[in-house]
Amino acid sequence: MLLTVPDVLTAEQVRHCRATLDAANWVDGRVTAGHQGSPVKQNRQLSEDSAAAHELGDLVLSALERNSLFISAALPSIVYPPMFNRYEGGENFGDHIDNAVRLLPGSGRKIRTDVSATLFLADPDEYEGGELFIEDTYGAHSVKLPAGHMVVYPSTSLHRVAPVTKGVRLASFFWIQSMVRDDGRRTLLFDLDTAIQRLHQTGGDEQALVHLTGSYHNLLRMWAEI
Ligand code: NI
Repeated sequence: MLLTVPDVLTAEQVRHCRATLDAANWVDGRVTAGHQGSPVKQNRQLSEDSAAAHELGDLVLSALERNSLFISAALPSIVYPPMFNRYEGGENFGDHIDNAVRLLPGSGRKIRTDVSATLFLADPDEYEGGELFIEDTYGAHSVKLPAGHMVVYPSTSLHRVAPVTKGVRLASFFWIQSMVRDDGRRTLLFDLDTAIQRLHQTGGDEQALVHLTGSYHNLLRMWAEI
C-alpha cells in the first residue's frame, strides 16, 4: 500500500528542521547505501551520529507516535532512527530496492525493513525534479509532497528519485519493521480499521461495531509478530 500521511510535522516544526539542516554538515549519501544502491546513489545526507540528526530524528519519532494514520497503516514494531538527505545540482538516486535488513545504529540489533518512509521537508515549488517514483503492480507513481507530509510504501518496491535540476530537495527517510510483515495483510487491517473509525464517527450500530472491532483485533493477534 502506498499512502500519503499529511501534516506529520507542523509548519513551525518544518521551519525548525530547515534551520538546523541549513547549519549542518552533510556527507556523501553512499555511506549507508548497500551494494545495489551505492553505484546509483548521488546525494548527501546528515551523518547518522551527528547531534543534528539525533535531535531532528527524535522530533520526527515523537510526531510519528502521535500520528494515528501512520500507526494504523504501518503497525510499527521498530522505527529506524530517521535520517536526512539533500539533493541538488542534478543529484539523483537511480532504481533500487532498499536493503531488507539494517543494523540499528549504536546496538547489535537488526531491523527488517517492511515499510519505507519519506518525509518531505521542502515544498514542491522550491525545486525542480526530485520526484520519488515508486513502482507497484499498477505502474510507477510520482510522489512530490508539501513540506511536512510523508509517503509510506512497501520496502519491497522498486523506486528512484529523479534528478533535482534546480533548487534543493530536503527530506527525512527511514524504515519501519512492522508487527505485520506482509503488505497485503497490513492493507486489509488498515482498510478494516479505517471503516471501523468511519462507522464510529457516523453513529454505526454499536453491536456490529463491537464485533467488527473484535475481528480486527483477532486478525491482528493472528498475524502480529512482536
Ligand atoms: Ni530507497
